[in-house]
Amino acid sequence: MILTKNNCDRNLLIESATKIEAECFSDSWSARSVEGQLMADGSVFFCSADEKGNITGYVCGQILADECELYRIAVTGKYRGKGYAKELMTRFIEECRDNDVSGIFLEVRSSNTPARTLYEKYGFQNVGVRKNYYSAPTDDAIIYRCDI
Ligand SMILES: CC(C)(COP(=O)(O)OP(=O)(O)OC[C@H]1O[C@@H](n2cnc3c(N)ncnc32)[C@H](O)[C@@H]1OP(=O)(O)O)[C@@H](O)C(=O)NCCC(=O)NCCS
Repeated sequence: MILTKNNCDRNLLIESATKIEAECFSDSWSARSVEGQLMADGSVFFCSADEKGNITGYVCGQILADECELYRIAVTGKYRGKGYAKELMTRFIEECRDNDVSGIFLEVRSSNTPARTLYEKYGFQNVGVRKNYYSAPTDDAIIYRCDI
């Protein structure tokens, strides 16, 4: 099940995504940043939920003209490997298509095999590298792009 600003309480989306941020990212966003992202013009923001309504993951990005940057996709530990990221990614791409986006791009740590495998499964191609872009630990950023 996909939850959006239109079918779910905004505070629940913000609270859930903030918890997932804290669990999944060393540079996690605050509730205020998550809220800013949810409310921004061109924002693409969805949570996934299980059949009982428990929030399992979230994705967010930003449409700018005919391109979209995917900023985050994350699934909370106990729900990984159950297809929630695929559900989120499919909905994200659908929303981009509905808004006449022609390409999605993103950056990811080179060591992040689960995320890179997910992106490649959806047709994202490695179009560049930013050497030592990430710190703690130091890592290259791989730039991916997908024409949709
Ligand atoms: C990347 C992440 C979102 C995947 O979520 P998930 O719900 O477990 O993924 P799914 O079950 O939907 O699997 C989707 C695909 O991702 C890939 N994948 C997922 N976990 C993987 C793993 N441990 N190793 C390799 N590939 C993996 C596979 O291609 C998989 O498809 P398949 O099951 O048909 O082979 C999750 O591992 C996560 O939250 N990681 C931490 C946050 C993060 O690093 N986000 C990316 C940067 S913003």
